[in-house]
Amino acid sequence: PYWHYARRYYQSNPPSKAVVPPLAFAFDIDGVLLRGSQAIPAAKRALAILEGANPTGSKIPYILLTNGGGTSEEARCKKLSSILGYKIDERQFVQSHTILKTIVDKYATRPVLVLGGRNDEVRRVAEGYGFERAYTTLDVLAWNPAVWPFHDLTESERQSTKVVDFSQTPIAAAFVFHDPRNWALDIQILCDVFQSGGIIGGPYASGRTVGGSKEQAIGQQHPELVFCNPDLLWKATFERPRLGQGGFRIAFQAVYKAITGSEYPYVQFGKPTEATYEFTKNILHDRFNELYGQLAGRPPHVYMVGDNPESDIAGANAAGWSSVLVHTGVYDPEQGPPAHTPTHQARDVETAVKWAIEREF
Ligand code: G3P
Ligand code: MG
Repeated sequence: PYWHYARRYYQSNPPSKAVVPPLAFAFDIDGVLLRGSQAIPAAKRALAILEGANPTGSKIPYILLTNGGGTSEEARCKKLSSILGYKIDERQFVQSHTILKTIVDKYATRPVLVLGGRNDEVRRVAEGYGFERAYTTLDVLAWNPAVWPFHDLTESERQSTKVVDFSQTPIAAAFVFHDPRNWALDIQILCDVFQSGGIIGGPYASGRTVGGSKEQAIGQQHPELVFCNPDLLWKATFERPRLGQGGFRIAFQAVYKAITGSEYPYVQFGKPTEATYEFTKNILHDRFNELYGQLAGRPPHVYMVGDNPESDIAGANAAGWSSVLVHTGVYDPEQGPPAHTPTHQARDVETAVKWAIEREF
């Protein structure tokens, strides 16, 4: 009744001037707003409240923060707007690899491997960020099918490839943008790159090798390895959580350690890393100022709504935000208390939003 009253009252009695809401939201996507490509029913009701049907009568700022990825921010926002029924602007959106825009200059003209997604969709994202020499593991297989004898390129895969001589193309870094589709192929190629300092199939770099011989690499000594999403599990449409990019990282590192005796050093972005939350704080700050600018006397109290204790709750708590764990995704309350304690638990995102707003008013 209260919410229906508020909606009806403010629609006929809009505030004389914009009331600056004292709070803002960061929403996880998979398991909170979406299951697969379908909106969770509570999501549309939650966004309606933030778009105006609330005690302030004003828009309550929110952004989306996901460990998902694989397409451009523009394409994903267009699709999210269509599914959720509200315009999601790129300035409200942070996905796993968005943060790579801040480090692209270091590799803009150097050959890099980009992993994840179907065919060359991630190459196109990387090129949109400014990576001018982004190559896929399918390019490597097209260059030399003997690299991995257990996969024949499909026609659509072959059409997505570029002609590259990787014996003359030292890889400077490997970026795992999104979830790899062929873990075996990608693990094999990463092992080749990092054992030989960047030249696939080249002499092994210093350090123990399978053959035991220590040879100087002709490529870079230590190409950088960057992962964009640490999720071991995530909630898709299947009843049980699915393996995420964190599973791929663990598999690669286990194989690499079995071959060389140690894991390969890597950089990790994505929730719950501090880098991703600090990057997101700036996005949220800009969004709040875009809506309320000078009116805002003080920064809003931020509420993160997520379904994964390890990424959403841990990251929000460390960022100094309030965190709400919902029961529509990875976390199952039947399994006992969550690994990271949220400020509050709620059955779904609508309940979470109402709790947070009523807490602030
Ligand atoms: O690949 C996406 C998955 O890892 C989790 O996505 O939206 O729950 O952070 P999200
Ligand atoms: Mg999630």
